[in-house]
Amino acid sequence: MKLSTVAIALASLYMQASAAPTASDAPQPETVPNCGYPTVALLRAWSQSATDHFFTTNQTEMDAFLANGYVAQGIAAYILPSDTEAPTAVPLFRMYSAQYRDHYYTANATNRDVLLSQSSYVSDGIAGFVYPDQECGTVPFYRIYDHAIGDNFFTTDQAEIYDFVDQLGYTDRGVTAYVNPQ
Ligand SMILES: *[C@@H]1O[C@H](CO)[C@@H](O)[C@H](O)[C@H]1NC(C)=O
Ligand SMILES: *[C@@H]1O[C@H](CO)[C@@H](O)[C@H](O)[C@H]1NC(C)=O
Repeated sequence: MKLSTVAIALASLYMQASAAPTASDAPQPETVPNCGYPTVALLRAWSQSATDHFFTTNQTEMDAFLANGYVAQGIAAYILPSDTEAPTAVPLFRMYSAQYRDHYYTANATNRDVLLSQSSYVSDGIAGFVYPDQECGTVPFYRIYDHAIGDNFFTTDQAEIYDFVDQLGYTDRGVTAYVNPQ
């Protein structure tokens, strides 16, 4: 009796969900099979005085930033470590501008080269590996940018994007790469 009630409730929930219009036409993460490659947490922190979002998989490095005015903001995503064997993964390049006090991340090597040759950003190595296309259980890692404070910010959370764009004046800069959700 109880079980069939649950089954009916689930079936009606499912029907509601299928009938509902999709909130966005972005691909749904649950339709992407996870490939099982080991991942590491990409940690996130924010400094109000530097107006800078910083991301690293290295806890020791993060601890040094936390001792230097940054506030931990949890896990931004899971990405692939430097020794990943995922064949389609690409490096997530990390750069830093002392002028803007801004950490910047890109999976686009041309974008990196242009910035390195034409701006105050210098190479800060590789944050880890990510996917250029949606596969292996990944979701979009969105970038938004606030020119006024010189901050590039990255998140998988669309609600957070809307808040930053609507309330804080950031502009939408599209998808940087695909990452595993936190
Ligand atoms: C992690 O960061 C610390 C401090 O910056 C550094 O000494 C160490 O080499 C880093 N570890 C790795 C695996 O990159
Ligand atoms: C990579 O960056 C370059 C330079 O910014 C840009 O012209 C190109 O469209 C980018 N490629 C992709 C796939 O986004």
